[in-house]
Order: sequence, then C-alpha cells, then structure tokens
Amino acid sequence: MKIPEKGMSKEKIFNTLAGYKGEDLDWKSGRVLGYIYYPGEKAHDVIDEAYTMFLTENALDPTTFPSTLRLENEVVGMTANLLQGDREVVGNFTSGGTESLILAVKTARDYARATKPHVKEPEMVMPVTAHASFYKAAHYLDVKPVVTPVHADSFLADVGAMGDAITDNTILLVGSAPGYAHGIVDPISEIAGLAMQNNLLCHVDGCVGGIHLFYMRRLGYPVPEFDFSVPGVTSISADLHKYGYAAKGASVILYKNKALRKHQMFACARWTGYTVINAAVTSSKTAGPMAAAWAVMNYLGDEGYCEIVREVMDATRLMIDGVNGIDGLKVLGEPNMCMFAFASTSEKINVYRLADALKNKGWYVQPQFARANSPANLHVSMNRATVHQAQAFLHDLEKTIAELKQEEISDEARELRAELDKLSIKFDDATFLKLTEMAGVTGTELPDKMETINQIMEVLPYDVSEWILIEYLNNLMVADKDANAA
Ligand SMILES: Cc1ncc(COP(=O)(O)O)c(C=O)c1O
Repeated sequence: MKIPEKGMSKEKIFNTLAGYKGEDLDWKSGRVLGYIYYPGEKAHDVIDEAYTMFLTENALDPTTFPSTLRLENEVVGMTANLLQGDREVVGNFTSGGTESLILAVKTARDYARATKPHVKEPEMVMPVTAHASFYKAAHYLDVKPVVTPVHADSFLADVGAMGDAITDNTILLVGSAPGYAHGIVDPISEIAGLAMQNNLLCHVDGCVGGIHLFYMRRLGYPVPEFDFSVPGVTSISADLHKYGYAAKGASVILYKNKALRKHQMFACARWTGYTVINAAVTSSKTAGPMAAAWAVMNYLGDEGYCEIVREVMDATRLMIDGVNGIDGLKVLGEPNMCMFAFASTSEKINVYRLADALKNKGWYVQPQFARANSPANLHVSMNRATVHQAQAFLHDLEKTIAELKQEEISDEARELRAELDKLSIKFDDATFLKLTEMAGVTGTELPDKMETINQIMEVLPYDVSEWILIEYLNNLMVADKDANAA
C-alpha cells in the first residue's frame, strides 16, 4: 500500500470512502442495538458543524487556542452540575470512557504514592461487572485488579465481598452506574461508605449512565443514588459520546477537588522541545469533539435531553417486557436504564446462534460470554435511532426463536468442548492455527458468522482467549497479508 503518486480527485475519494462505509452495518436503520448514540438529524447536523469548525484547532495548547480551555471548562462544568458536584469539583475532557478510567486509576495510584508510601503493590477492588477498561488501566499502570463477585440474579455488587477483599495495598474501590453488561447500577452509597470507612478513594464509572440517569431522575423515574451527592464518592467518569449524544471522542473525568485531581496531571520541561503540560493522556488533539459536545449540550438543553430520555425509556420498557414475554428468553436482573441483557432459558436456544440468525435479518445484538454467575447472553443498548424499531425487533425475535426451536438441538457446543479438552494448549503458532481452524476462520480476515467463535472463546481459559485475540488482531491489522502470513 502506497500513497498514490498523483492525488486522487475529490470525487473518487468520496466514492471510495462511501464504498468502504458500505461494508458497515447500517446504523441509520435503527437495527444496530449497540455502539450508536444518535440524537436525531437536527442535533446531528449541529454536532457535525461544530466538530468541523474546530477540526484543526489543537487543544494541546490553550495559550495559543484559549477557546479550547473555555470549551473544556464549560463542558466539564455542565457535566459536574448534572452529577451534583459542588463548587470544588473539577475535571477534564477526555477522548472516551477508557481514557477517563485510565486517568481515574492513575490518579488513585499517584495519590497513594503521595499519601500512603507503604503501598508498594497497589490494588483496586472492583466487582466482576466493572468495565474491561479497568483491566486495561491496571495493565498500563501496574495496579492489581482484585475482582469480587456480584449477587446471583440481581448482578449487584456484593459489597461484603468487596470489604473482605480490602488489604493494606488497596487504593481504590470501584462501582458502576450502571455496569455495561446488564445495565444495572451498583449500590454506590454502600461502596462509597465502605471506601470512607477504610480511608480509600471511590470511583463511580458513570461512563454509560451518568447523563441518562440524571435526566431519568428529573423525569421522575426511580434512580439509585450514584453521583457526588453520595458521601465517599471521590471521582466519577461520564461519557458525553454515549448518552450525552455527542460525537465520539468525548468523555469527562471529575474529581471531588483539585488536591486529588493534581495527581492526574503530567508536565515535562526537561527535554529540548516545547514545554509539555497535559491534564489527560493525549497531547496534540483536535478540538472538534469538545466543540461538538459543547454544541450538542447547548442545542438539546434540558428539554431536549428529557424528550430523548422519555422516548428511549418508553421503547426500552416495551423491549424488556417483550423479551420477557417470549417463551425461552429472560432479561437478566432489573436493568436501571435503557440497556439490558437477555439469556436463554431453553436448551433449544443458543444465544450465539440467535445473534447470527438475527444478523441475517439485519439486526445487531451484542453477544456476551458466560462469566461468573452471568450466563451467556445478548446485550441491547437502546438510543434514539432504535426507538422506532422496538416493535419490529420483537416481532423478528419471536419469529427467530420459533425457527430455532424447530431445529435439531446441535451437539456442536459439546463436541467443541470435548475437542478443546483434548487439545494441549501452548502459546504458539500451531495452537493458534488449530484454534482458528476449529473456529472456522482464516485468522487473517474478519469473520461473518460468530457462533462457533463465541462458543470457543467462552470456554477457553481467560489467558488463552486473550492471547488468541491479540494474535488475531495482530494478524488482521496489516496492509500486506501475504508478507505477514502467520
Ligand atoms: C460503563 C462503561 N465504562 C467504560 C466504557 C469504555 O468507554 P469507551 O468505549 O468510550 O472507551 C464503557 C463503554 O461502553 C462503559 O459502558
């Protein structure tokens, strides 16, 4: 792959890009029940324009681009206000939930270094429902994740188990509002209370829920306590690019006060170049996402958000009741907002096969593996783009379930398991090839059917499945497949 010697025409560029995009799922159809948070066409146009207006400005340096500091402070201020922060609460704009969580963990680590020098091997205690990004933060920052169970059926964090997991090395307790997988809000006041009793920091991951839950509460829906009004909560993350309906690349990390936030920051004045002073992980960055977030928050206003949340919650109620009404399926726990997971209650229905069958009918739902006490399930996140498709989804779901019930019960899962049990797994090319062959993929291309892959990934030991994923991605992300064949 090379840059063309002569530049392409604009027309060809956009035709080619449109062709690439044509391979993606059509989220505008409202049939993609995850990944997308769409506020409607008018708001989308405003976001688009604001993003483009600030595309080239560099938020690296507010002395050159003071607008970026202003935008960041105003967006952070509006978010802090929603999350009941007092005047001492401070925060920053980040590129997404993962960056916000990495920063929350870094801040906790460096705060502990400053205030608890005896902690040499820092640990954070988190329920098994905490987002994967905490593991990423742990991996990058050398903090040990100490994972605790959630209660059977309710999937709520077991706060007693979190208490038992606290050691002299603990620096942080984590709760989610809500956890992504099941859409269930942890008992934040109990977790934060436990943190206070033990003189620990407490992070609330409100990445997916922070904004939506606020407006639910305003509309009178029952919402568990989760924000800065809860004593003991020391930091909160809230993504604007999810239910804040901003363009992607927009999240906010908030801290109780500046004394804590100081541990997030980085400065370098010792090299030969310009002075670096960064609040977040990234340095040079487009101001597009913060301008777009600022624009959508101001464009929608409280009224606009309330309207969206009401529509989305009505559709979610319909979906949850509809799924529960289908013989052979059940929604897991009691979801608090507009995301939920459903599992099979019938040996005739394998959820991974169901996901593939729904995909053939144009629907995307997200498979989630059986982990801890959470059975294999399919995840749905509703948003404004999907509201008008709720009835159609339930109709196709019911039909697909009826079709699957007609099929012979497949022995494939059992056979795969038996074959995997026999396999002596080594972290080498031969094992990789064998596993990809069993999964029916080449190992260098994107798969179209996921059922067998999911079956295999679900039962492999975690370190093996994570190794396979990394090998796979490492093979997939090359321009010249022939030169890089495994
Ligand atoms: C609760 C929660 N935390 C963190 C994240 C990570 O966010 P991002 O994908 O923006 O990095 C997500 C993403 O869905 C989430 O739901």
